[in-house]
Amino acid sequence: MTKARTVQRGRGFGIDIGGSGIKGAPVDLRAGSFAADRVRIPTPTPSTPEAVARVVGQIVRTFRRSSGRRPIGVTFPAVIQHGVARTAANVDKAWIGVDVDAVFTEELRRPVHVVNDADAAGLAEARYGAARGVSGIVIVCTLGTGIGTALLLDGRLVPNTELGHLEIDGMDAEVRAAESARERDDLSWEEWAKHVQRYFTVLEDLFWPDLFVVGGGVSKKHEKFLPLLHLRTPIVPASLRNGAGIVGAALLAAEIGDAHA
Ligand code: BGC
Repeated sequence: MTKARTVQRGRGFGIDIGGSGIKGAPVDLRAGSFAADRVRIPTPTPSTPEAVARVVGQIVRTFRRSSGRRPIGVTFPAVIQHGVARTAANVDKAWIGVDVDAVFTEELRRPVHVVNDADAAGLAEARYGAARGVSGIVIVCTLGTGIGTALLLDGRLVPNTELGHLEIDGMDAEVRAAESARERDDLSWEEWAKHVQRYFTVLEDLFWPDLFVVGGGVSKKHEKFLPLLHLRTPIVPASLRNGAGIVGAALLAAEIGDAHA
C-alpha cells in the first residue's frame, strides 16, 4: 500500500502513456497541477517498449531545464507489479513481463517509477481532487478505452485492483461499460448509462464504498450520464480530469524518491 501523506512540496514530473497519446508535464506538487503546459506526442504504432521509451525520452528532453531532480513518474495502462507489466489489455502484448521501470530508467538515465494509470489518477483525486479528505473506501473509476479502477482506504491506495475486468452478465465489464463501448455501438447516453448503472451496482454491492469518483475523458460530460444513475453510493466526477494521471504519477515517484533520499 502507498503511504498517505498530507502535503508535498516542490516539483515533480509525470508522464501519462495512453493508447493514442503520450503526455508529460512538470507538476507543482503542492498545488497538484501542471507547472508548465504539457507536451503530447502520438503513441507510436506498434507501441513496442523501444518505440514508447524513445517518445518518453523525447518528452523529458523537452523539459530539460524544468523537469526537476526527483524520480519521474509514468503511468501505464496495465497491471504494474514492482515495476513489471503483468497484463496488456489495451496495449501491445510485447509489454507483458517487461520491467518498465528499468526500460525507462535506462532511456532517461534517472530513476523512473511506473504505476497503473488508474492508480495514478486515483491517488491524485485522493490527494488533491474529488476524494480529498474522504475517509473510508473510495473507488475511482476511469471510463475510457477500458475501465481503470483505483481502490483507496482512508486515502491510501491498494494498487492494481483491475475491477474493469469483473465478469458481469457473462462479459468482461469494460466491454459494455467503458466509454469506448458507447462510441463503438453508437449508443445514446441513456442506453450507455444502463450498462454503467449495472457496473456500479455490482461494485457497490461488493465493496460498499463511501464514494465513487468517475474519471476519464467522458467525465467532462458527466452531466449527460451521472444524473441517470441510481445508486446508494454518492458518485461525483473527477476534479483533475485528464491531468490526474500525470499529477498522481509525479506525486508517487516524488514520494518514493524522498523516502529513499
Ligand atoms: C487495464 C487497466 C487500465 C485500464 C484503463 C484496463 O483494460 O487492464 O490496467 O488501468 O484499462 O486504462
